[in-house]
Amino acid sequence: MEIIIQPTPGAATSIAARLIARLVREKPDAVLGLATGGTPLLLYRELMRMKLDWRRITTFNLDEYVGLKPEHPASYHSFMWENLFGKIGIVRRNVHIPDGLARDIPAFCERYEKKIRSAGGIDLQVLGIGTDGHIGFNEPASSLASRTRIKTLTPRTLRDNARYFGGGKKVPHHVITMGIGTILEARQCLLLAFGRKKAPAVARMIEGPVTAAHPASALQLHPRVKIFLDEEAASRLKRADYYRFIYAHKPDWQRI
Ligand code: GLP
Repeated sequence: MEIIIQPTPGAATSIAARLIARLVREKPDAVLGLATGGTPLLLYRELMRMKLDWRRITTFNLDEYVGLKPEHPASYHSFMWENLFGKIGIVRRNVHIPDGLARDIPAFCERYEKKIRSAGGIDLQVLGIGTDGHIGFNEPASSLASRTRIKTLTPRTLRDNARYFGGGKKVPHHVITMGIGTILEARQCLLLAFGRKKAPAVARMIEGPVTAAHPASALQLHPRVKIFLDEEAASRLKRADYYRFIYAHKPDWQRI
C-alpha cells in the first residue's frame, strides 16, 4: 500500500486527480471504477476543470440503493450525473451504475460483472471508506471474495448517510454493490479519506489485520493501491512518519 499524507483534502485530491488525468490521457479508452459520497466531490470538481477527453472512457460505479429510481435526488445515478457525468461530455452508453430498480437482482448483478469483464476489466478504481470500514457498500462480514450482489446496510451506515436523505429515516436498507473480489480485480485502486471521523477506520485498514470484519483491510491484498489522506484522517496511524518519509524520498521515476 502506498500511503500519501497531505496537509489538506485539497492537496491530497490534486495528486489523485493528476493520476487519473494521466491515465485518461495515456489510455483514452480506459475503464474507470467510480465512487460516490462526500469524499470524491473535490476530485470530480478537479477532473472537470482539467478538460479531459472523456468520449471513449467507460465507467462502472461501485454501488446504488435498492428501490431508488435513477432520478431520485439521493440516488447514486443523480449524484454522478450532477457532480461529474453531466459536465464532462461522457457518452451515456459508456456509463454503468447498478440499477436500484432491477426486478431480478441476482441476474442483474451477474450481468454487471459480465459487463465489467467484457469492457476489459477496471483500470483504476476510485474508493472512499465508511466509518465502519466499508468500501463500496461492502459492510463488515462481507466475504473478501464477494462479487456484485445485494447487501444490507449497518445501522451506522444508515446514520452516516441519513444526511443525503434529509436526515430522516428514509435511507434504503438494501443496496447493490460490487463485491470485494470485484474491487480487488481492478488493476489499480485509489482510496481517499479525509477528516478525523475516518481516522479509526483508516488505521484499521492500513495497520490492522486483513479481516472481513473491516472490509477495507482487504486492500492490503492488492498489489497497486494508493491511499490519499489528509492529516486528520492519518492521525491514528502508528507509522505515519514512515509513510511520509517514503513519499518524500520516492525515486524520481516513481514520482506522481
Ligand atoms: C458511502 C458509499 C461509499 C463511500 C462511503 C463514504 O456510503 N457507498 O462508496 O466511500 O460511504 O462516504 P463519504 O465520502 O460521504 O464519507
